[in-house]
Amino acid sequence: MKKISRRKFIIGSGVAVSVAGGCMCTKTGRATLTGVGNTPAIDPAAYTITNSELRIDLDKEPRLKPIGSAVKILDETLKVPLVIVQKEEGVYIATSIKCTHRGVEVEYRPEDKCFRCASLGGSEFKTDGTKIKGFAKGPLKSYPTAMEGHVLKIDITNNE
Ligand code: FES
Repeated sequence: MKKISRRKFIIGSGVAVSVAGGCMCTKTGRATLTGVGNTPAIDPAAYTITNSELRIDLDKEPRLKPIGSAVKILDETLKVPLVIVQKEEGVYIATSIKCTHRGVEVEYRPEDKCFRCASLGGSEFKTDGTKIKGFAKGPLKSYPTAMEGHVLKIDITNNE
């Protein structure tokens, strides 16, 4: 069996993890190795998806009740996973959760009312998806929302 030095092993392992894990936004630090942020996933029982519409029964997803709260939807029928936020009382926004730099999840920051990439690259976006700063190549795609009673409707016609 070929011996390998401890140093070479550590360097080799780091490269493998980086390639498998996603974003390395800076040369000086390792961002999230999984590409995943801290936004909780929505309760699967709280939503339905058709070709053009995603409907969330807000009575079934209590985590979206506080102002400034967010959930993510990673359903495989969506081409682009989403993050849903209650920005203000009864005002919901829906955007792509994937940073346009290397696809790491963005997280909502209620104190600043913006999205921030979970990677060390830290790209930031306004709530309409407009890029504020960072390595991101463009805006986050946002989706129109509307309320129908206690159901939040999200137009996903352009979810691609
Ligand atoms: S993935 Fe690099 S800044 Fe978001």
